[in-house]
Amino acid sequence: MSHDSEPTPLSAAPGAPLRGRLRPPGDKSISHRAMILGLLSIGETRVEGLLEGDDVLRTAAAARALGASMERLGEGRWVVRGVGIGGLSDPAETLDFGNAGTGSRLMMGVVGGQPVTATFDGDASLRSRPMRRILDPLRLMGTQVLAEAEGGRVPLTLRGPREAIPIRYETPAASAQIKSAVLLAGLNAPGTTTVIEAAATRDHTERMLRLFGAEVSVTPHGPDGHGRAVALTGQPTLRGTEVVVPADPSSAAFPLVAALIVPGSEITIEGVMMNPLRTGLITTLIEMGADIERLREREEGGETVADLRVRASHLKGVDVPAERAPAMIDEYPVLAVAAAFAQGTTRMNGLHELRVKESDRLAAVAAGLKANGVAHLIEGDDLLVHGDGTAPPGGGTVATHLDHRIAMAFLVMGLATAEPVTVDDGAMIATSFPSFLPTMQALGAGIGE
Ligand code: S3P
Repeated sequence: MSHDSEPTPLSAAPGAPLRGRLRPPGDKSISHRAMILGLLSIGETRVEGLLEGDDVLRTAAAARALGASMERLGEGRWVVRGVGIGGLSDPAETLDFGNAGTGSRLMMGVVGGQPVTATFDGDASLRSRPMRRILDPLRLMGTQVLAEAEGGRVPLTLRGPREAIPIRYETPAASAQIKSAVLLAGLNAPGTTTVIEAAATRDHTERMLRLFGAEVSVTPHGPDGHGRAVALTGQPTLRGTEVVVPADPSSAAFPLVAALIVPGSEITIEGVMMNPLRTGLITTLIEMGADIERLREREEGGETVADLRVRASHLKGVDVPAERAPAMIDEYPVLAVAAAFAQGTTRMNGLHELRVKESDRLAAVAAGLKANGVAHLIEGDDLLVHGDGTAPPGGGTVATHLDHRIAMAFLVMGLATAEPVTVDDGAMIATSFPSFLPTMQALGAGIGE
């Protein structure tokens, strides 16, 4: 799959209740980080449950180009042999990250902190996304930006210093990608690199750095304690280890909402990561009246996971506070779909970061709702979706703008609207949930070409 490939339109039609069990693919955030810390450590890293989606495969290819060696032992089972901090080599070619914002930004942090030179590029979506948020702190740490596309975008070329400069950095947006890029550059800094975030974002980098042997302290920050100060002691020796990747809650979100809105459905989603910095959607859906049970809570790979039993539910509109956004930042498209079936208005506050995802997700969601006859309004950075508790008309074609989550969200919608819903291109679904189609079809969903 590349930006040159032909678009693949897909349609979803309303049909019978969804039934059965599924295990969503491995978490994308953790999969990227496993490849990156595998590269930066000494010895072998064994990964179980890796998401083999295009985004992660791009990160794996970049890690290889920077010196790691890799072996795929079976589905989701990989061994990475790293080169250690300071052991990276200049890649022979441009690092092409395709659609992968997380992979590219985290790897910019790696390259920006090490004495190597690399060029980053990607597809039309990635080329439109802001990278200054990463380049600004990296420049403070001694990274040279040798070339960049207009407005601080890819393609861009970075050269890292012999040693990075340790900094204390307040992130300008609640972004785990910014935090992670700075921490990864800080691995090669003699001293403590501290990242201050006004609101806590997903903490997978911090957790995994510790797992590989780094010293990381995390303390509450700010007047209400919602923020975090994350301090990393530089130049540790990272040692390869075992990483078990739990199922991705951001992928689980699609069958979960599908089962809520298709009448009579009951499904079980197995092994879903319940990290509280990722479960904002579940919290919100339960407030809306969703019947979601957390079963068999247990520890897997350092995270709490649970099986989720989901039954079709009558939903009601709620107000989603802006403070919850970091814990469900990727889930707003599918929440908007759930809201279209709810009785009353759902107000989603503080969605400015959605404008700089794989697409302008606020605009793409609004256009998709409009195409399918759902009443809604954008007020500043807030999205309001109005429902009357019945199925919206559907029948529209949705422009996905190279955005996997827009494609999956509106296919889910089409499983319960009066008329089928079409998305103009489903190819990007393979970036995060390559088995989406067969998985949904096995539950009885009428999705296809
Ligand atoms: C991610 C962080 C989020 C999220 C993305 C994955 C990560 O981006 O949207 O899908 O793995 O760190 P931001 O940090 O830009 O909010």
